[in-house]
Amino acid sequence: MRLLLAVLAFTGLAIASPTSNEAVLNVAVAEKRAAWPDTPHYTSGRWVRDATGKNITYAGTNWPGHADVMIPEGLQYQSIATIVSRVKSLGMNTVRLTYAIQMVDEIYSNGGNDITIQKAFVQALGQTNGTRVLNQVLAKNPNLSATTTRLEVFDLVAAELAKQQIYILLDNHISKGMWCCSGTDGNSWWGDTYFHAGNWTRGLTYMANHAKKWTALTSMSLRNEPREPTNNAALTRNSYNWQSWYTFVKQGTQAISSANRDVLIFISGLNYDTTLTPVVQGTALTPGSAKFNIADFPANKIVLELHNYETGANNCNNLQGNLNRNGFNALSGTTPNVFPVMLTEFGFQMDATTWRNTYSTCLASFVTAQKAGWMIWVLVGSYYIRSGTQDYDEGWGLMNHDWSDWRSPSYVNGLLLNMVKGTLN
Ligand SMILES: *[C@@H]1O[C@H](CO)[C@@H](O)[C@H](O)[C@H]1NC(C)=O
Ligand SMILES: *[C@@H]1O[C@H](CO)[C@@H](O)[C@H](O)[C@H]1NC(C)=O
Ligand SMILES: *[C@@H]1O[C@H](CO)[C@@H](O)[C@H](O)[C@H]1NC(C)=O
Ligand SMILES: *[C@@H]1O[C@H](CO)[C@@H](O)[C@H](O)[C@H]1NC(C)=O
Repeated sequence: MRLLLAVLAFTGLAIASPTSNEAVLNVAVAEKRAAWPDTPHYTSGRWVRDATGKNITYAGTNWPGHADVMIPEGLQYQSIATIVSRVKSLGMNTVRLTYAIQMVDEIYSNGGNDITIQKAFVQALGQTNGTRVLNQVLAKNPNLSATTTRLEVFDLVAAELAKQQIYILLDNHISKGMWCCSGTDGNSWWGDTYFHAGNWTRGLTYMANHAKKWTALTSMSLRNEPREPTNNAALTRNSYNWQSWYTFVKQGTQAISSANRDVLIFISGLNYDTTLTPVVQGTALTPGSAKFNIADFPANKIVLELHNYETGANNCNNLQGNLNRNGFNALSGTTPNVFPVMLTEFGFQMDATTWRNTYSTCLASFVTAQKAGWMIWVLVGSYYIRSGTQDYDEGWGLMNHDWSDWRSPSYVNGLLLNMVKGTLN
């Protein structure tokens, strides 16, 4: 509020002396900064701040666009605007929007042009169902057409998120577009069947360039859930470790920041992104002896992200102890390395009772007490296709099957709304 008044006063000054180009320029900068989303966001110790210097916490949900069709889910049931309004109605300020590297690979294979959504639906769902689902998408979303490309759908989603003032964390979820994640899905680790490091950095750079024009974009992630390739003993032995991780994490960061210096970069740890302990503790990145060195990264841009799926937890102290040991203790500001740390995935069965369990209530109290950012998995009511099943019902989804209402209204009203409020207040 104080800043807004200062800008208004400054504007008056500039009008009074129109010959001062510098004053006019300063007003333009100040006005830009006083307007949502106040990017670029940056880190200061354990906080993310906006360009005005205000501490910002991200609270939101995951909206996948990385599965077989490689288009954000749900558009056969609701319009983009309706889905974004749902997120907004929860008070959330962030969407973690996921994509697959395969989408970018196909652009390169196709002479630099993305494929149409018509082709994408038919490719993933077959001629009959692909055509039928495409027609449902077009009926619900009159501003799309059969010749709209996948990236243009992402652009429309991004524009609507900006319109409703919701930040975007653009997440590289997987290489081959499909349901994620397992140790045998070919996407587990750099060098796995579909996970080519060169395609990956090329894809990160491409998306960093492309998404530069998205007003709502504040951040990009390097890669979702690095994990052991459990069906590839040689790759595990030679490469699945912190030392190799560090090499790739530096490459990925360079790939993004060479294209867009403004975005925050989210870094995931080993074992399905459940641990970043050596990064926070500044201990050896084994089997080598080098340590995480923040000077290897763009200044004030690195955020740590962790996932937690200890859904069977029955002791909140133990669960919170695990979170802290795995990296959240960086939020205390007392660890050798200090970063903002966010819980970018957690989730559970959406019904009348599961949310009352220790897992869900304990995470809610943890993130609100810490003012830690978080994104619940998952917004989706149903997927175009998941693991070969079309129109797959998502029992963990915030939305019901046809994305028309909450799947668990008691969770939304009994806990989720307060979790958002408690985090953002
Ligand atoms: C951000 O949070 C920190 C820690 O609570 C506080 O010291 C600082 O004043 C806050 N900054 C702003 C601009 O609110
Ligand atoms: C699409 O077009 C309609 C008007 O036909 C508009 O109301 C809506 O907000 C547009 N955008 C999205 C993202 O749905
Ligand atoms: C096509 O869609 C129908 C209706 O959802 C479904 O029953 C059928 O299994 C789908 N076909 C394939 C090949 O998945
Ligand atoms: C890398 O991208 C090229 C297209 O440029 C594609 O032909 C190739 O299959 C991709 N590699 C992997 C491992 O997916």
